Amino acid sequence: MSLLTITKLSDSVGAEVTGLDPAHLAADDPVGETILDALEDNGVLVFRGLHLDPEAQVAFCHRLGAIDYSSDGHHPVAGIYPVTLDKSKNSSAAYLKATFDWHIDGCTPTGDDYPQKATVLSAKQVAERGGETEFASSYAAYDALTGDEKDRYGALRVVHSLEASQRRITPNPTPKQLAQWRSRRTHEHPLVWTHRSGRKSLVLGASADYVVGMDLDEGRALLTDLLDRATVPDRVYSHNWSVGDTVIWDNRGVLHRAAPYDPDSQREMLRTTVLGDEPIQ
Ligand code: OGA
Ligand code: MN
Repeated sequence: MSLLTITKLSDSVGAEVTGLDPAHLAADDPVGETILDALEDNGVLVFRGLHLDPEAQVAFCHRLGAIDYSSDGHHPVAGIYPVTLDKSKNSSAAYLKATFDWHIDGCTPTGDDYPQKATVLSAKQVAERGGETEFASSYAAYDALTGDEKDRYGALRVVHSLEASQRRITPNPTPKQLAQWRSRRTHEHPLVWTHRSGRKSLVLGASADYVVGMDLDEGRALLTDLLDRATVPDRVYSHNWSVGDTVIWDNRGVLHRAAPYDPDSQREMLRTTVLGDEPIQ
């Protein structure tokens, strides 16, 4: 059995895990549950210098839940998706520029899937400058509201779309781009997510387009203000990558984004996604 040590990296989000031996991920080791509990508590788990190979990463993710294979085809190993702006390594790289804005993975799925339980990234190549991944707790964002705000915002609903997140990076799309974005249906989510655990979080980020029933500009100003408050620097954990690091985050409770890096950079992260089982409600 692996003896894990979990050390908090900031007050509201992130913890470093040491003592994980990937060779110990045998079926009778309760490590998967320990990691999922620590993930729920901390939002983000950092494993420095793990140097998982792609197959071992997928095997590790199997211990956390069912894996999303729907983005396969960009990497030889099933369950691995390369996150890079280099089109020779990922033909869908253009979409990934949207990772520079704060977001929650899985707010605009193709079908009715729930947000991913865990997104796992391992650094294969890092940027020379920038390219940190930044995280903020969406539970802490809710907890920091005033009582009056909690009452007022509890009933609001927000429409999320791929178009909203893509427009931020491509404000003047071609008709073809627009048609592609719009082929993904929009999703209406509550602003306040009440989790099975009883905790509450705010559902914000680049995919949040407008507040239902509110004046468009007023609603967008509210979403911007809430996001700004959720992501003030002292609420953010910024992971400065080294090759071989693995980081896991829980999309139920964190917002994340990539800090800017040179679009010509060789930066490459290998991602595996563990499917979620909790609807936004
Ligand atoms: C992602 C993502 C951020 C990064 O893979 O979902 O947002 O730093 N990545 O590459
Ligand atoms: Mn993401």
